Amino acid sequence: MASKRIMLLGANGQVSQALRAEPIPTDWQLGAYGHAECDITDHRMVQETIQNFKPDLIINTAAMTAVDKCETDHAQAIAANFNAPANLAAQCSTLDIPLIHLSTDYVFDGADRNTPYATEDMMHPVNMYGDSKMMGEEAIRHTHPFHVILRISSVFSAYGTNLLTKMLQAIETKDELKIVTDQICAPTAAQDVARALIKITETLMHGKSGGYGTFHLCGTPAVNRLEFSQAMMDAYAPFTAKRPQILPALSSDFPGFAARPPYAVLECSKIRDVYGINQRPWREGLDEAMQILMQGRRQVA
Ligand SMILES: NC(=O)c1ccc[n+]([C@@H]2O[C@H](COP(=O)([O-])OP(=O)(O)OC[C@H]3O[C@@H](n4cnc5c(N)ncnc54)[C@H](OP(=O)(O)O)[C@@H]3O)[C@@H](O)[C@H]2O)c1
Repeated sequence: MASKRIMLLGANGQVSQALRAEPIPTDWQLGAYGHAECDITDHRMVQETIQNFKPDLIINTAAMTAVDKCETDHAQAIAANFNAPANLAAQCSTLDIPLIHLSTDYVFDGADRNTPYATEDMMHPVNMYGDSKMMGEEAIRHTHPFHVILRISSVFSAYGTNLLTKMLQAIETKDELKIVTDQICAPTAAQDVARALIKITETLMHGKSGGYGTFHLCGTPAVNRLEFSQAMMDAYAPFTAKRPQILPALSSDFPGFAARPPYAVLECSKIRDVYGINQRPWREGLDEAMQILMQGRRQVA
């Protein structure tokens, strides 16, 4: 059987690391390229990498994801989150291969909202990260019909720097944590995103029609940031003697930070109907991530 050549960009990010930790189909040949091996803002490097690897499909997880840094470095945010996906879409279009690209709930403003966003709802970001990701989405839509844009939300995992690993570090080093209650999110395990990417890729590679377009995936249920922080603290409690006090705060208590949508929850029926991918309770993903983290610690000790 001919192998399927799947090119993974942003290979050292948390979603890609989660994907690489999964059992991938045996007929995949995975070409995993981190930032150093393929800088997506270097269009010539991207073209050469594609020419060398000859992918049947590209998964792009690379992005500038540091929301506050995007506010102070617009040029880099635009280069990584808009120009780079636009170029990838053009290259995929020329080669007639599918492109799977990750995007974010931060394309929505969350203002006066308490019901999950559908895929076709109007985008209206409140910060530069969301703006640049929205522009990246639009460029892909206009350039290449064979795309999947998968919007995800508040991703956590055992890998790299993210909501969970930052929280564990804060627990170890702080006596008090101020966490906002006025941002509702739908935490999503990177492992769930990874499994969805594998299933979407497999389905597209088997020639499914109607599998292209924009999709949503996030965990359940929606919670505020403080509630999620408390859950992370509870999950970590058996492994530490530390338990800082959590103090409720409001976004306005952190004036130096980029604006965030007060409600960032995605409606996920389309990915279930088209791909058979179901939302998972984030508590299960949290337990799974904690197991991976603690297993890693035992191996180091
Ligand atoms: N994290 C979240 O909560 C969240 C929420 C919604 C959507 N998303 C989206 O999901 C996707 C994956 O996110 P993630 O959480 O896995 O992010 P991540 O852990 O920050 O990984 C992103 C990766 O992209 C790499 N990268 C940055 N600029 C690059 C460039 N110019 N060329 C090549 N690689 C580059 C980074 O490398 P360096 O570290 O070396 O820069 C990093 O390894 C992104 O599209 C993000 O926008 C994330």
